[in-house]
Amino acid sequence: MNLKPVLFSIFFISTVILKSTSQEVSLKRTTSVGNRIVEFIPTGFDKNKTPSLIFATEPKPKGKVPTDWSLIPEFTFNNSKASAVLNLKEDISLYGGGEVTGPLLRNGQAIKLWNTDTGAYSVEGGKRLYQTHPWVMGVRKDGSAFGIIFDSTWKAELITNSDQIIYNSEGALFRVYIIDRKSPQEVMKGLSELTGTIKLPPRWALGYHQCRFSYDSEKRVMEIADTFREKKIPADVVWMDIDYMQGYRVFTFDSIRFPNPKVLNNNLHKKGFKAIYMIDPGVKVDKEYSVYKSGTKNNVWVKKNNGEEYHGKVWPGDCAFPDFTNPKTRNWWSGLYKDFLNIGIDGVWNDMNEPAVNDNDFPEGKRLGTMPYDTPHKGGGNLPKGDHLLYHNAYGRLMVEASYDGILKTNPAKRPFLLTRSNLLGGQRYAATWTGDNYASVEHMKLSVPMSITLGLSGQPFSGPDIGGFLGDTSGDLWANWLGFGAFMPFARGHACAGTNDKEPWAFGPEIEKTSRIALERRYRLLPYLYTLFYQSSKTGMPVMAPVFFADTKDSRLRAEEQAFLLGANLLVIPAFAKDPILPSGIWEELNLIEGEKQDKYQAKLSIRGGSIIPAGKVIQNAGENSFDPLSLFVCLDASGKANGELYLDSGDGFGFEKGDYVLLTFNAEKKSDTVFVKISKVEGKRNSDEDVKAVNVSVMLEGKIYTGSGTLKDGITIDLK
Ligand code: NOJ
Repeated sequence: MNLKPVLFSIFFISTVILKSTSQEVSLKRTTSVGNRIVEFIPTGFDKNKTPSLIFATEPKPKGKVPTDWSLIPEFTFNNSKASAVLNLKEDISLYGGGEVTGPLLRNGQAIKLWNTDTGAYSVEGGKRLYQTHPWVMGVRKDGSAFGIIFDSTWKAELITNSDQIIYNSEGALFRVYIIDRKSPQEVMKGLSELTGTIKLPPRWALGYHQCRFSYDSEKRVMEIADTFREKKIPADVVWMDIDYMQGYRVFTFDSIRFPNPKVLNNNLHKKGFKAIYMIDPGVKVDKEYSVYKSGTKNNVWVKKNNGEEYHGKVWPGDCAFPDFTNPKTRNWWSGLYKDFLNIGIDGVWNDMNEPAVNDNDFPEGKRLGTMPYDTPHKGGGNLPKGDHLLYHNAYGRLMVEASYDGILKTNPAKRPFLLTRSNLLGGQRYAATWTGDNYASVEHMKLSVPMSITLGLSGQPFSGPDIGGFLGDTSGDLWANWLGFGAFMPFARGHACAGTNDKEPWAFGPEIEKTSRIALERRYRLLPYLYTLFYQSSKTGMPVMAPVFFADTKDSRLRAEEQAFLLGANLLVIPAFAKDPILPSGIWEELNLIEGEKQDKYQAKLSIRGGSIIPAGKVIQNAGENSFDPLSLFVCLDASGKANGELYLDSGDGFGFEKGDYVLLTFNAEKKSDTVFVKISKVEGKRNSDEDVKAVNVSVMLEGKIYTGSGTLKDGITIDLK
């Protein structure tokens, strides 16, 4: 028998199979789309198969790729699944990936990008959480850095090996964007040039938030608000979790427990509180319920391939889900906020929007925790039709776009505040976030620091954990330790799960109440600095809470530090739990804001950086009170006896600042023989700062000693060092 043809055909078939299972894909186009930002489009990329939902605006070609460019991704296509790899030739520190647990330094990590309701996540479980950030930043030894965006929402995994960044998607080919700049800070700016920044939040959103699942009656909500004021513990917001609703129907109020929400909101406002209410995406299937009826009439629901409505169980039982890929549906959803918010609701909390579905009654192995992957979505506008496998990771992001729009349309003169559990890279344009259902344990407390830093390094500067831990009972010791540094996280909210102990600052006895008051008074004194950082972040995309290595990007010792963190560039926060944190060298002076904090073992230690001036206010009970009477400036000189800093001021809400009703002051300090002179060196904006800031107290911190002086901004202030 002649074997030749047989062998030949076996060879031929196997090569065809091999080829069809693993194909390298060439690049169709490589173009510069910004300052040292390059776009890579693989041959075969089709935006109708992989639409883009990440960018603020579609990137536009801007000329040739820089001649020294060396970072080029390789694409493969494998059984209808696209991958990209970036080979790393040198020793690189990797960061990013969005909402992740585990170490800040991501070398050797792998995460799944498939938004999932993962309660009580541990380091292991946290490899797949509520959000999707297909983004990695690399920092080289010399402090220069790059970042890579995989522009896809398909189900995927992101592997950050020390020699390769790998993105394996379960869908069609996608585009890749690489930013290569001189520092990680410049890369963060590049990320925001592509994906946008947060909008400047209302000032009250930077205050302390008190939440529980649930403060379940109007009476209980007022008790909470009144206790804060009676005990003089600063706070700005009380949150309404699902139990305010009538049978968990979104946009309704329980007629017995919340009969007069308008009066409730009014009473909260009188006490200087804001009210935030939860809205989930699942709408109860109930033919008598106005939202379900209106959604059905407007044909907004996700439907199965057989044309029937898709129903999944959430709090109210069977729910229908708006198909947020469709612009008409988003518009319908945004319209629902009008009557709802008009009763004096100040902010919205979108939860369960992965979307999370309770399919625990399905047999094991069949549970998806969300819609079946082949559930179709309508698309519309720029978005093609597509399966849930494509749109799942964008569901929360599309929901918050619609919610944001509805909030802004209802109150066009106010800055929206929206919190979301699920989101996508770039979704910071619409909503702040928190890190989901953590656990009341020391492990989770420690994890919360690298989690929020990583979110900040992934374009989302406005985040924080459930302080104290959501699930499980919290001890006074854990609460106080957590609040001691949580008070310096961008979003500071205490929250607690149903069935757990009370977790308000006073719930653990007098000692913990005292320490909680100190922690929050420290935050409130720092509001002027914090608000300035949020303003800067809204302009440049810079994280509010930054990793310690941002203080010196060339110091390789700092690359893995994840206990301490920076607030802006000039303030170092060292939580009380931190054991031998690795700190930046140079001049740093301890900053004390409240009497008694030094003797309090729970408070994080604050240090101000040499060369900087930090503005602070007085202790206030809510962000609406005047902070600047007097303004305090904390000055820490550099080796040459100089320092500078900024203060941003505006009305605290609304959009007047966009028309110039703000002031950005730059302060300078200079030491000459035995005096330090502090003055304003630059003023930007049209607001008259004299109306906000009258007296100014200056503290110069020099080699462990503090020298004080006071005066006015107009004349400058002289501090005697003798
Ligand atoms: C899940 C959220 O993560 C949690 O914060 C909330 O309290 C519950 N849903 C109830 O709404």
